[in-house]
Amino acid sequence: MDDMAASPSVNLSSSYSYEDYRQTADWLLAQTEQRPKVAIICGSGLGGLADLLENKEVFPYKNIPHFPDSTVPGHAGQLVFGELKGRQCVCMQGRFHFYEGHSIYTVAYPVRVFFLLGVETLIVTNAAGGLNGSFKVGDIMLIKDHINMPGFAGQNPLRGHNDERFGTRFPAMSDAYDRELSALARRAAEEQGCGSFLQQGVYCMLGGPCFETIAECKALQLLGADAVGMSTVPEVLVARHCGLRVLGLSLITNMVVTDYTSEEKANHEEVLETTRLRAQDLQRLVSHFVAMI
Ligand code: HPA
Repeated sequence: MDDMAASPSVNLSSSYSYEDYRQTADWLLAQTEQRPKVAIICGSGLGGLADLLENKEVFPYKNIPHFPDSTVPGHAGQLVFGELKGRQCVCMQGRFHFYEGHSIYTVAYPVRVFFLLGVETLIVTNAAGGLNGSFKVGDIMLIKDHINMPGFAGQNPLRGHNDERFGTRFPAMSDAYDRELSALARRAAEEQGCGSFLQQGVYCMLGGPCFETIAECKALQLLGADAVGMSTVPEVLVARHCGLRVLGLSLITNMVVTDYTSEEKANHEEVLETTRLRAQDLQRLVSHFVAMI
């Protein structure tokens, strides 16, 4: 596995330089005195978490240098700094998705900015379809591991020149989701009355924007995936590369269709409806967890 020592001046397909990330981080550091150690990426319909912050300072993505804009209904498109249970946090109220047309590098862009801000822990939340037959709509799944399906096709945010200031060329991913943080989140869930609908499993990312065919769902089940979604993995790869600890939570918003006689169809309205029903529980779990870190 010899890295052919690509020079930074050779424009491989990575579209950002260290200076781009640095400029975004420095701009934010100049706008706020808050120095969060925890970053939270809010999934579809889960942006309400950011509304819970106290002493909020809000930066719409369109005002932040080098930040793209978020285009999906259910995603506000702003970075919110503030305190959750007395802990300084920064929340992405709306994330960037590959299916919106963003490059895989853009999708993960904010995570390196968080690293430069001094963030040490990343909490990622998402909406996902349940593949595991024992799951129910409304369950919250602690992400134990992931399958990076776009990565199988070469779409990896770490592809291209490796800047050692962020991390090593060949990062391990066998410990992508921090076991200590998972155990803590399990305790937080139990203490908040969420234990009865807490699950644990493997999240599989697909590129989207189509929901899966029946054959695809059956294939993902055979691969060992428990939930499927269209996000999260690029951000986690970049977070682990630069040494952030990661906690991942999927809200199971729908069960995927695996039966050719079924009339059911996955749809975004159902996803948002379930997030509305469970948003409060997830918010309580995450805020309690943040207080426990
Ligand atoms: N498939 C992919 N992504 C999703 C789903 C699903 O069923 N539900 C929520 N996000």
